[in-house]
Amino acid sequence: SKKMILDLDTGVDDAMAIAYALASPEVELIGITGTYGNVLVDQGVRNSLAITDILGHPEVPVFRGIEHASTKDSFEVLPISAFIHGKNGIGDVEIPDSPRPVEEQSAVDFIIEAVHKYGKDLVYVPTGPDTNIAAAIKKDPEIVNLIGNIVIMGGALTVPGNVNAWTEANISQDPEAADFLFRSGAPVTMIGLDVTLQTLLTYKDTQKWRETGTKSGEFFADMVDFYIKAYETTAPHLGGCGLHDPLAVAVAIDPTLVTLLDLNMKVDVEGPTRGRTIGDEQRITDPHKTMKAAIAVDVDRFVNELIERIGNL
Ligand code: BDR
Ligand code: CA
Repeated sequence: SKKMILDLDTGVDDAMAIAYALASPEVELIGITGTYGNVLVDQGVRNSLAITDILGHPEVPVFRGIEHASTKDSFEVLPISAFIHGKNGIGDVEIPDSPRPVEEQSAVDFIIEAVHKYGKDLVYVPTGPDTNIAAAIKKDPEIVNLIGNIVIMGGALTVPGNVNAWTEANISQDPEAADFLFRSGAPVTMIGLDVTLQTLLTYKDTQKWRETGTKSGEFFADMVDFYIKAYETTAPHLGGCGLHDPLAVAVAIDPTLVTLLDLNMKVDVEGPTRGRTIGDEQRITDPHKTMKAAIAVDVDRFVNELIERIGNL
């Protein structure tokens, strides 16, 4: 079967990404690498360990990644992230810490090793900043030709971002890393905000998880309800919360859930549009496309899959 690595800044939708992957018989989750964003890297790692435990999968190893963008020397969680995901990243719901330690190997070395081991069978899904994968490619450039696919949640092809008019949160944390990844020649599929914001979850949906009566069902319902409540304040017109990160996982498993455009892209790293994901004018006529961008999604099919898969865990 296909092997998957998730790279997470483990907030609420990242947690749903873990659940979606673990509920999918089509893939084996061989590891989680931690990044920063919704929370600090150590809190994200802690969340990933606790969530894999609560979902009954303590065999999934968790690796600590780089704690800030390569262009900066530190990282601080934005107040808006704490508002949307809770101070602990998981909707301020308390779950027991895992007794398992984080792995000793670094996230970057684990990624490189896994690409050499599994090659085209490996799909890597970053749902936070692209700092770890960019560092892995810098350390071992050969991996761009070996890896099966990289499906990122980040950016947008059409609509404005969620940080400012141009920029989506994950890309904004480390535009240089995303730009390096986009132009590295690695196969990259971009699942942007314009598509993920079409896929929404409501209280009615989370209630189904609560009704399963399981510990994990109750935890996911409580955690996601916190996130839906935040969306009621930040984006009341939507009528639910965005399913950003689990959509990237779902597409990594089944690309037919979205319509993909073959397009070589880049990220603006300078000026007022810093962080914008856009067609790369240098490679626009290059017949060889290394990137695909999602432009539409089968909303009902995906949302139903998500409710059902996570509900069955
Ligand atoms: C992305 O930013 C984070 O807050 C979410 O987890 C998601 O990955 C959406 O812009
Ligand atoms: Ca995320």
